[in-house]
Amino acid sequence: MARIMLLGAPGSGKGTQAERITQRYGIPAIATGDIFRKNLSEGTPLGLKAKGYMEAGELVPDELVIDLVADRLSEPDTKNGYLLDGFPRTIAQAEALDKLLSGKGEALDKVFFIDVPKDVLIDRIAGRRVCPSCGRVYHVTGMPPKQAGVCDDDGAELIQRKDDDAATAENRIDVYNEQTKPLVEYYKKTGLLIELDGTAGVDSLENQIEEILG
Ligand code: AP5
Repeated sequence: MARIMLLGAPGSGKGTQAERITQRYGIPAIATGDIFRKNLSEGTPLGLKAKGYMEAGELVPDELVIDLVADRLSEPDTKNGYLLDGFPRTIAQAEALDKLLSGKGEALDKVFFIDVPKDVLIDRIAGRRVCPSCGRVYHVTGMPPKQAGVCDDDGAELIQRKDDDAATAENRIDVYNEQTKPLVEYYKKTGLLIELDGTAGVDSLENQIEEILG
C-alpha cells in the first residue's frame, strides 16, 4: 500500500519519476495535467473549461480540479494506493484532499518534493518532447529518442506541448512560486515531506525514492 505525492515545479521531473514509480509499485498515477490534456484532445466539456487556463499557463479553478480528483479517487484501482502528480497545487486543494482522505479513513504515506532551480527548469521545458500517442516524455539533449523526433516505443512523431513555449513556461513557473510552493511548508508541518535534489539524474532520483519507499 502506498499513497504517494510528487510535488515540484513545472519541468522538475514529476511525470518522469511517476512513470517509473507506478510501474514498480503497480499503482495508478493520478496526474491532473494529463487528465486535462486528454479531455482537451477529446473535446469534452471539462477539457473545454480547462483549455484557456492551461494555454495561458494559469491554474484551472480549484473546484473543477477537486471534483475531478474526488471522482478519480473513488475508482477501485486506487484501493491499493496511488501516486498524485500535479495535485494538489494550491492550499485550498491540499485542504480539500485532507478532508477527502480523512472522510475515507485514509492518509498519505509520503510527499516527495523535487527541488530544481529555475534555469534548469527552463532548459528542461524548452527541450521536452512528448509522444502524442503513448505519452512517453523525452528531452532533445538529456533524454533523446533513438531517432530524432520519433518515439522509441511506437514510432509516432514527437510533439512539443503547447504550454511549453518560453513565455507560457515562465508564467507557469511564476504561478508555481506564488500558489504551489507554499505547499512545501504545508507538508513539512505534517512530517511527510521528503526533499530531493531534482538536479540529480533520473536513475539516481528513482533509486533514492525506491530506497525510501522500500
Ligand atoms: P501538468 O501537466 O501537471 O504540468 P506541470 O506541473 O507544469 O509539470 P510538467 O509536466 O511541466 O513537468 P514534470 O514535473 O512532469 O516534468 P517531466 O517529468 O515532464 O499541468 C499542466 C497544466 O494543467 C497546468 O499549467 C494547469 O493549467 C493545469 N493543471 C494541472 N493540474 C492542476 C491542478 N492540480 N490545479 C490546477 N490546474 C492544474 O520532465 C521535464 C523534462 O525534463 C523532460 O524533458 C524530461 O525528460 C527531463 N527530465 C526529467 N527529470 C530529469 C532529471 N532528473 N534530469 C534531467 N532531465 C530530466
